Amino acid sequence: MDVLTVKKIKEMKGRQPIVMLTAYDYISARICQACGVDIILVGDSLAMTLLGYDSTLPVTMDEMGIFVSAVRRGAKDAFIVADMPFMSYQASIEQALKNAGRFIKFCGASAVKIEGASDHTLSVVDRLVDAGIQVMGHIGLTPQSSIFKDGYKVKGRDFSEARELMAQAKALEDAGCFAIVLECVPEPLGADISDAVGIPVIGIGAGRFCDGQVLVFSDVVGTYDRVIPRFVRRYCDGLSLFRQAVEEYVTQVRKGEFPGEENVYK
Ligand code: KIV
Repeated sequence: MDVLTVKKIKEMKGRQPIVMLTAYDYISARICQACGVDIILVGDSLAMTLLGYDSTLPVTMDEMGIFVSAVRRGAKDAFIVADMPFMSYQASIEQALKNAGRFIKFCGASAVKIEGASDHTLSVVDRLVDAGIQVMGHIGLTPQSSIFKDGYKVKGRDFSEARELMAQAKALEDAGCFAIVLECVPEPLGADISDAVGIPVIGIGAGRFCDGQVLVFSDVVGTYDRVIPRFVRRYCDGLSLFRQAVEEYVTQVRKGEFPGEENVYK
């Protein structure tokens, strides 16, 4: 399999839609790779969808490292982006370098993703890129900072917020990001930002005209039902499928129908 690079990802802009999907473990990573997902994101959304926290804030570098490594084992040839968890890059540039380096050096990530476009974040991007670490930006709804600031809501609905997001996208491009995730903005703004920057803009709830789309694995396969945003399309009802299988197992053991003859050693 041809290994995807940042150069090739950038060349996809305007030519073909980029498909990004989160994966959190060996199994979901194998599925993503087998299905030809272009970029696998080990998102900090796993704090909620896999670990059962109420937000993405509690997940740690140690926890993320376990999942990034598992995803690499499941998708040996994939381009894997590791999400930098809350407070793994906010305190200082040195802290950001150390933690991003850990994902690349020890967990097998191809790149890292960080949220926001403050002066500090732009300096972090600049230094990581200088150190040879590829960085994906993330603006719009940025769950790590939105939760207590103004909640999970659509961003860029008014002119000044839209203008600010446009400026942030350009600043992230100038700082050296190879792509940007744009989350939860009105469709026309998603289109305008995608047109205005030279790097791929990968939308989640940012409309149909971005350079690519990203969704969360658990949303696509229907294994997380605590919140289902409008931008999600569920392709199957995983929870029902799993529940049905486990119910059947429980019933069959109780009725003596499992193990069957084919399951025993003669
Ligand atoms: O953590 C995550 O899954 C993400 C996506 C929503 C882009 O950041």
